[in-house]
Amino acid sequence: MTARLIDGKAAAASLRATVAAEVAKFRSATGRSPGLAVVLVGEDPASAVYVRSKGKATVEAGMQSIEHKLPADTSEAELLALVDQLNSDPAVDGILVQLPLPPQIDANKVITRIDPDKDVDGFNPVNAGRLAIGLPGFVPCTPLGCLKLLRAELGDLAGKHAVVIGRSNIVGKPVAMLLLAEHCTVTIAHSRTRNLPAVVRQADIVVAAVGRPNMVKGDWLKLHATVIDVGINRVEGDDGKSRLVGDVDFASAREIAGAITPVPGGVGPMTIACLIRNTLVSAARRDG
Ligand code: GUN
Repeated sequence: MTARLIDGKAAAASLRATVAAEVAKFRSATGRSPGLAVVLVGEDPASAVYVRSKGKATVEAGMQSIEHKLPADTSEAELLALVDQLNSDPAVDGILVQLPLPPQIDANKVITRIDPDKDVDGFNPVNAGRLAIGLPGFVPCTPLGCLKLLRAELGDLAGKHAVVIGRSNIVGKPVAMLLLAEHCTVTIAHSRTRNLPAVVRQADIVVAAVGRPNMVKGDWLKLHATVIDVGINRVEGDDGKSRLVGDVDFASAREIAGAITPVPGGVGPMTIACLIRNTLVSAARRDG
């Protein structure tokens, strides 16, 4: 039997509709729209696509999208000054500085400067710390999207063994913290992990976030494991055309897994839905 497909597009559409309904209530109660400021530095084409999608989703939810596009040679001081201005602007509920940043700018410095209570990306060290010790704060959008898909698929996650492949600050570490808070047994695997297939074979839940196309094979999986594929890798197919694939070898994995997210149409759409959800939560906390 092949795995059930976890439909991230449908889950994201449903979350976005819920947020839009809440935004309408917020607007009639407060007379203002939640505002999300998105800052793009330079012309990285993938980042430009993400920023456009984020702006579109923000407006579709009835919120205000405030876009700042800065040239690639923007100095760190100039970007920090813009962050300060957005921090003190009452119309701005959420601030997102698109990563990666050009080499002359220290991304950690910028992320640390964003007001933690407007940090809808959840990347500020204050929010990373809150997540680690179980305090309310902003949770990064892709990990939150993964958790929502897992809860919808499996219900209670307590006691399940989750293997997270990847240890980035944006996905691997926060997703591991979220699963720990759900009472999973969590293993974080990475490029130096020995005998990765044997580690993955223990997992009831696999979250793959390494950025290596088709790395996780079907025969690494425990029968009927739930697989969340965070990878978005552009590769050239046999026909010479470019296409998107995940970190999981979908064709072999779907023969073993119980449920699996496709790429595209799995985790990706949930990231933006969670971003607008975080922005609404920020507005409600500040002005609810
Ligand atoms: N670059 C890739 N993913 C993200 C994200 O979720 N937030 C930001 N700010 N930059 C990114």
